[in-house]
Amino acid sequence: MLLQLCLVSMLVCSSGFKVLVMNTTPGRSHAILMDAVVRHLSQAGHQITYMTGCPETISQQNVSIIDISENNKFISGNVLNIRAILDKKIDMTNLKFLLDLLLEVARTAISNSAVQKLLSDTNQHFDVIIAEWMYTELPAGISAIYGCPMVWLSSVHPHWMILKLIDEAPNPSYNADAISRNVIPFKFYERLVELCYQGYALLLQKLYYYAKEEQYYKDLLVPFISKRNRIAPSMNDIRYNASLILGNSHVTMENPMRLPQNYKHIGGFHIDGHVTDLPENIKSIMNNSRHGVIYFSLGSNLKSKELPAEIKDGLLRVFGGLKETVLWKYEDDLLNRPDNVHVLQWAPQNSILAHPKCILFITHGGLLSTTEAIHFGVPIIGIPVFADQFINVKKAVKGGFAILVDMSYTMVSELEKAIQEMISNSTYMEKVKELSVIYHDRLVPPGAELVHWVEHVVKTRGAHHLRSPALHLPLYQKLYLDLLAVIFVLFILSLYVIRCIYLVGLYFLHKKHDDFNIKLKSM
Ligand SMILES: *[C@@H]1O[C@H](CO)[C@@H](O)[C@H](O)[C@H]1NC(C)=O
Ligand SMILES: *[C@@H]1O[C@H](CO)[C@@H](O)[C@H](O)[C@H]1NC(C)=O
Ligand SMILES: *[C@@H]1O[C@H](CO)[C@@H](O)[C@H](O)[C@H]1NC(C)=O
Ligand SMILES: *[C@@H]1O[C@H](CO)[C@@H](O)[C@H](O)[C@H]1NC(C)=O
Repeated sequence: MLLQLCLVSMLVCSSGFKVLVMNTTPGRSHAILMDAVVRHLSQAGHQITYMTGCPETISQQNVSIIDISENNKFISGNVLNIRAILDKKIDMTNLKFLLDLLLEVARTAISNSAVQKLLSDTNQHFDVIIAEWMYTELPAGISAIYGCPMVWLSSVHPHWMILKLIDEAPNPSYNADAISRNVIPFKFYERLVELCYQGYALLLQKLYYYAKEEQYYKDLLVPFISKRNRIAPSMNDIRYNASLILGNSHVTMENPMRLPQNYKHIGGFHIDGHVTDLPENIKSIMNNSRHGVIYFSLGSNLKSKELPAEIKDGLLRVFGGLKETVLWKYEDDLLNRPDNVHVLQWAPQNSILAHPKCILFITHGGLLSTTEAIHFGVPIIGIPVFADQFINVKKAVKGGFAILVDMSYTMVSELEKAIQEMISNSTYMEKVKELSVIYHDRLVPPGAELVHWVEHVVKTRGAHHLRSPALHLPLYQKLYLDLLAVIFVLFILSLYVIRCIYLVGLYFLHKKHDDFNIKLKSM
């Protein structure tokens, strides 16, 4: 009996895989997603090495942490400051700025001494690497060190820049870019914008970034590959060699677009199946609210306290005029706040949204927040600020459970109107409840799906059977340019043949004519 138990436990242990999880992008919201990947895989018994800038948020004792919090310097200063964004001092929609910044972020993470130490240990091996895709494929270079499969985590909706790594870029006439502001169906102008954006981004990548990336790969990673007596593949071969993309997406929030077999929707996996109890103070505020609770949070990266005073005062006036209770995630104390407005320096967002009294969520429209809104069935007012927030909110508006308010110095009156509309019109609530039912109606929860597909990739040594043949087809074949060439040659040939026939005919006609003339003359 004891022996059997030992055997079984050995089997269980030996079935665990060694997984390297990389979270190189600074910012809480990225850490929330990757922490969830680590949580699910660790609970499934796998051994995790976790590269992260927020080591304090991971509770599992048995995860070995590679601390890269040095990378957090990239989001200090003005980068995510509401004021700077309001005053248009920074432009987070500038693609070149994003590409430069995020390649530098990845390079700095890989150059970190703790990471270099890990990579130089030739006794270390991994069965699979999971990294977030953030505008560079540099992290995939690490999979070449260990000769193991690579899985991307995509934190945004499925978009062409990442899909072209495992398949091909979807048609821009009905598929928006990750940080686009357009939702389908596109107008003529919007289709043009999407097309030009793809073209511009491709040019930037091919003419500029790929060379830079290749150089970083050669400088930072190839020495470790050589140290293990492996032949280093080219960065371009590594780029198109990922086994899988795990997407923080779900059809309730997307266009039902067609996707390659190795793209898997796991949207919602970061939400713990078990909602933790609210702290007593918040619970009693919510319980005692007679007309419902409005929850207002600008997420983990943006700080409400950085809002300009005129907006803050306006918000307090509007909130104070409501009969509903308002919970405001605010990182400081608020003076002169009305009785129905409560400040939370730290907000257990999921537990608040899960409370039946929560009737409205005012959010910046980050994908984690919009997913949670559908998960718990709470309609939203979205005030998008940067990155994918615009498209997330616009999709929610199109989905019928949201109102968009532009972030500006005059947004308070717009917000007031939106709140009145939300409170008085029940269609938003009905719609979000409907979507929530669709969202929850799955074969297995998204966390289980995550674990399944990562294990599947390891077991099948890279899931080559899921890969799209489009990856290996040259562009001229996809566009049938060779067929066009054949048709062109045939056309020219046939012109030539017709001309020949014509000339020969003419010749015989003349000859006959001449013969006739000769005959005539000789008569
Ligand atoms: C790691 O610890 C968690 C609990 O925190 C446990 O569920 C999991 O099985 C452990 N994993 C391994 C590989 O020991
Ligand atoms: C809040 O209400 C729920 C049920 O509606 C109850 O179980 C809970 O004890 C109440 N909590 C407080 C703090 O009043
Ligand atoms: C409620 O909102 C929906 C969606 O915006 C709209 O079609 C409908 O007319 C509104 N109903 C009322 C009573 O205003
Ligand atoms: C591609 O990935 C597989 C594992 O999925 C690995 O065996 C192979 O060496 C990789 N090829 C290149 C060129 O990196």
